[in-house]
Amino acid sequence: MEQIKYSSTQRRLRSNLHMRDLTANVKISHKSFIQPIFVEEALESPRAIQGLKGINVDTLETVIETIALDIQQGVHKFLLFPVPNKKLENSFDFSFAAEVIQKIKKTYSDNIWIAADLCLCSYTNSGHCGILNHDHSQLNNDQSVQELVKYAIVLAKAGADCIAPSDMMDGRIAAIRKSLDQFGFDQISIMSYAAKFSSQFYGPFRDACHSSPNSTKLKDRKTYQISPFNQKDAIASALRDEQEGADILMVKPACLYQDIISTLHSISNKPIAAYHVSGEYASIELLAEQGLVNRAAAHIEVWAALQRSGADIIISYAARHAYRWLVLEEQE
Ligand code: PBG
Repeated sequence: MEQIKYSSTQRRLRSNLHMRDLTANVKISHKSFIQPIFVEEALESPRAIQGLKGINVDTLETVIETIALDIQQGVHKFLLFPVPNKKLENSFDFSFAAEVIQKIKKTYSDNIWIAADLCLCSYTNSGHCGILNHDHSQLNNDQSVQELVKYAIVLAKAGADCIAPSDMMDGRIAAIRKSLDQFGFDQISIMSYAAKFSSQFYGPFRDACHSSPNSTKLKDRKTYQISPFNQKDAIASALRDEQEGADILMVKPACLYQDIISTLHSISNKPIAAYHVSGEYASIELLAEQGLVNRAAAHIEVWAALQRSGADIIISYAARHAYRWLVLEEQE
């Protein structure tokens, strides 16, 4: 049989590690990552979260140690989820969240940057992200915004570097920006959960924060989180948040909504954050546990995809491994 010779067109670029490294146009830096952390008031010792391998809910004491280890691993940026003791209908007590931030900032000062998630879902007895109206059929948008603004000021006074509203009420970014400025916090940034979809993939997180909706009438978050079937709503919501003063626009979940990341990347000049949420993280962890994927390489592949889509910032439960995986162990 005659040997056919095919000319090499693209494979020269893939032919060895040096060539692949040299020609890669996606370069991931651990500096682009934010590590989520959980602190629960009622806990006496750290608690593991089902599905979220390697992530604990900390106590006020142990979060200091968690952050110390993270700093050693090159992590300096955090997204904090405080879980208070008391669940109420309204007029919430935000003092635990303030205490956590004060303690962290007193210990680490500006060696770390901390964004505080701003939402009412771990404060309300309904598990909803805002305050229910009189017959519990809807959230009261404006009353919820007023409460969120109060909370934002508490977090800012406690020392948060950034406020990250995840509630999805209308008008909250403008209201929070205005109030922060009035109180002299004009250098505190807002990372808006700008395109936050109503998703199945928040399951492990809700376990961590005891924040599943449990109201008899309003059973889910579909009246305030964005429908997976509505791309235009996502873009409009994100641009609206930008106009209202958001400094960073977040898309969440990350992997399933890369169309939104890439559209925002091309039409907005604000930095885009992609939140690889608890269910997305857990899917990789489950595959890795079964020996079906290489854990580090799978996470890195996701991060590369998010960067290709246009994410500038990645929020990942595996952020604390990024430096080791990317620099020290050089996964391919
Ligand atoms: C609170 C909030 C949620 C997440 C971040 N902030 C859950 C929800 O909206 O139910 C999800 C994060 C994750 O799954 O990792 N509103």
